[in-house]
Amino acid sequence: MILASIFWFAASVAALTLDVASSGGNRSSSLLYGLLYEDIYHSGDGGLYGEMLRNRAFQGSSSNGAASLARNTDYWYPVGNVSLTIDTSSPSLSSSLPYQMRMDVAVGTTGTVGFYNEGFWGFNVDAAKRYIASFYMRGNYNGTVDCYFHSNTTDQVLGSSSMSIDQTSSEGWVQTFSTTFQPSTTGSDANNTFYFTFDGSKLAGQSVYFNILSLFKQTFDDRYNGVREDLAEAVENMNAKYIRLPGGNNMEGNGSPFEWKWNETIGSLVDRPGRPGTWGDIKTDGFGLLEMMKMSQDLGLEVILGIWTGLYLNGEIISEANLQPYVDSVMNELEFLLGDKSTTYGAQRAALGFPSPFRINWIEIGNEDYLNGGTSSYYSYRFMAFYNAIHAVYPSINLMSTINPNPVKSDGSSLDLHVYGNEDYFVSLFNTFDQASRKYPVFVNEYAATNTGSNNVGQVGAQTLGMSCAEAVFLLGCERNSDVIVGSAYGALIKSYNEAPDTVAVIKHTANEILYSISYYVQKLFAENMATETLPVTATNGSFGPVYWSATANSSSTILKLVNYDGMTGSSNAVQVNIEGSSKTTATLIILTAPNSTSVNNLPSLGGESSTITTTTLSGSSGSFFVSFSKPYEIVILVV
Ligand SMILES: *[C@@H]1O[C@H](CO)[C@@H](O)[C@H](O)[C@H]1NC(C)=O
Ligand SMILES: *[C@@H]1O[C@H](CO)[C@@H](O)[C@H](O)[C@H]1NC(C)=O
Ligand SMILES: *[C@@H]1O[C@H](CO)[C@@H](O)[C@H](O)[C@H]1NC(C)=O
Ligand SMILES: *[C@@H]1O[C@H](CO)[C@@H](O)[C@H](O)[C@H]1NC(C)=O
Ligand SMILES: *[C@@H]1O[C@H](CO)[C@@H](O)[C@H](O)[C@H]1NC(C)=O
Ligand SMILES: *[C@@H]1O[C@H](CO)[C@@H](O)[C@H](O)[C@H]1NC(C)=O
Ligand SMILES: *[C@@H]1O[C@H](CO)[C@@H](O)[C@H](O)[C@H]1NC(C)=O
Ligand SMILES: *[C@@H]1O[C@H](CO)[C@@H](O)[C@H](O)[C@H]1NC(C)=O
Ligand SMILES: *[C@@H]1O[C@H](CO)[C@@H](O)[C@H](O)[C@H]1NC(C)=O
Repeated sequence: MILASIFWFAASVAALTLDVASSGGNRSSSLLYGLLYEDIYHSGDGGLYGEMLRNRAFQGSSSNGAASLARNTDYWYPVGNVSLTIDTSSPSLSSSLPYQMRMDVAVGTTGTVGFYNEGFWGFNVDAAKRYIASFYMRGNYNGTVDCYFHSNTTDQVLGSSSMSIDQTSSEGWVQTFSTTFQPSTTGSDANNTFYFTFDGSKLAGQSVYFNILSLFKQTFDDRYNGVREDLAEAVENMNAKYIRLPGGNNMEGNGSPFEWKWNETIGSLVDRPGRPGTWGDIKTDGFGLLEMMKMSQDLGLEVILGIWTGLYLNGEIISEANLQPYVDSVMNELEFLLGDKSTTYGAQRAALGFPSPFRINWIEIGNEDYLNGGTSSYYSYRFMAFYNAIHAVYPSINLMSTINPNPVKSDGSSLDLHVYGNEDYFVSLFNTFDQASRKYPVFVNEYAATNTGSNNVGQVGAQTLGMSCAEAVFLLGCERNSDVIVGSAYGALIKSYNEAPDTVAVIKHTANEILYSISYYVQKLFAENMATETLPVTATNGSFGPVYWSATANSSSTILKLVNYDGMTGSSNAVQVNIEGSSKTTATLIILTAPNSTSVNNLPSLGGESSTITTTTLSGSSGSFFVSFSKPYEIVILVV
């Protein structure tokens, strides 16, 4: 009795009262929560892109963290007494792929020969899934090729398949596929290799040549040349509304002529030369423009298309006199994506299996064009050259500037702001958009709290609860102003844990695991719980900090998001919420938190997640609810 009455007393005192109006807000952006895709630290190759073999077509190397066109047989290892070397003899597979791997087999060889690949930090071997291997070969061979996974950890073959080959060198390059197979055993970890082995006696004294060696596990939605299923599902579950692609700094290239070129990422894989990427890795470009568009379609994401506008990251800038071919290339790309089948490039798209044009409503003219001395040329000619050409043909597409203000300052001309900084900075930005002009839509197409507190040195490996809560405070500021803040996206979306354990990303992957950062859950919950209009909220007996909030509503529900940022717990920091005009007596209460502000999530095999999400039903009366925080850092979503 006594306890109960103390509880009731405590529960009825609120530090803060929030009265949520039933109208009087603004229409909110339906796109508010989005994604940035660029291939950074194996987001694409060795990440989303389903190819499992590394260095499949000898397109370059990534030694010492720098991508180059130096060719080698890295990640391939001989089996038996053979040598593996890079070869440029004719005929090559294609003019785009002039380097191949030659296997020399010694005279008198008997037994098994071949090679294995170590993958992108190993392989996921899953007995429940289908796999298929293939390669192009030139040379004489009449026999079987065994294709199989081998576990380093258990020294076992985990599943195998084979190819039957009967070809002679006069036939040139022939592509052969293995039979589709399911491994017999699921790997205990990712420490596996993939083998191709031959009957050595049939190859003794000969050389044979290989290119585009490939291994795919069944892909998301079973697409040919598609994306990794578990990673695509992880992205799908974020409930984001748009994706910006293909970048990002990776689109720009480190220097001439290595910008991302749409026309070299389409069609047969044989015709894709690849390129040195910006983030230290060579790109196969197997995950090309159409693969990205297809993935976006499969995930129900609107595409914001990034186009390259003449600035390389090393500061090289295409002069005004030389810019026209790049403008033409973008116009061709747009015709390829948006033109009907009667157009030259629309017909090319249709021939590649996409008869219907795509829809694009937003194009971003460049990326971070203020970098390395880009600003003056962006304002004086680069932006306008692309703007004028695109606007003339596609007047309804909104053309976004990467520098504030947009060089075209007419109502509706949009901007992309990138926001990186420490935790304190993110919290300080909570009200930064309150005074923003309503005339110019803003995207925050890249943001991330990259360090804790006021620390500026380096980055932390995974976002702490404190960092993710600081991002959440910032996102509340975006949401409250989502009549003008159209979209937001974290930079980066996906990185390889093996390659970049020490920098932040929404998701990090290994060959067989996924690390969902706490920021992942912030974005997922915020996107899932987003309605169609903002609502004014009146605070009494308190104001923003340490509790921050934003309210939205649709025709049936009101959603109040609260972030307790380094606040008290229990009654001393409790919130009385009154939803004007509501007679509801129950609400859904969603809570995201973790043990403390420095808690991080990890890979399942390295401790797993510290964050938790709980969903409960909260009772109240006539639209009034009482929310009390249980942790100093906590995100609470009340759906009434
Ligand atoms: C206002 O908040 C303080 C704590 O900050 C609390 O002691 C007081 O009871 C609150 N007043 C009301 C009317 O809720
Ligand atoms: C709605 O937008 C106006 C500016 O057009 C702004 O002043 C006002 O605060 C916004 N209302 C809400 C509830 O965010
Ligand atoms: C491997 O092949 C080379 C010729 O390429 C030969 O000299 C060497 O003896 C062979 N080694 C073995 C162990 O058979
Ligand atoms: C597995 O062992 C082989 C042979 O030692 C090695 O080349 C490969 O890198 C290992 N794989 C992993 C994932 O460590
Ligand atoms: C390849 O080997 C098979 C079986 O040994 C044989 O039937 C076939 O004739 C061979 N092909 C050629 C071109 O010799
Ligand atoms: C994989 O296995 C090899 C051989 O057993 C071992 O040397 C290596 O450290 C393992 N790699 C990983 C990442 O566990
Ligand atoms: C792709 O377009 C660029 C112009 O942007 C051109 O230089 C290049 O040759 C084209 N590549 C192919 C394969 O046509
Ligand atoms: C309104 O939002 C609630 C909570 O997210 C959701 O369950 C409901 O389906 C939405 N209603 C409409 C009409 O969109
Ligand atoms: C914070 O929580 C983590 C678990 O998420 C724990 O390992 C760590 O010791 C805690 N730190 C403090 C200062 O309590």
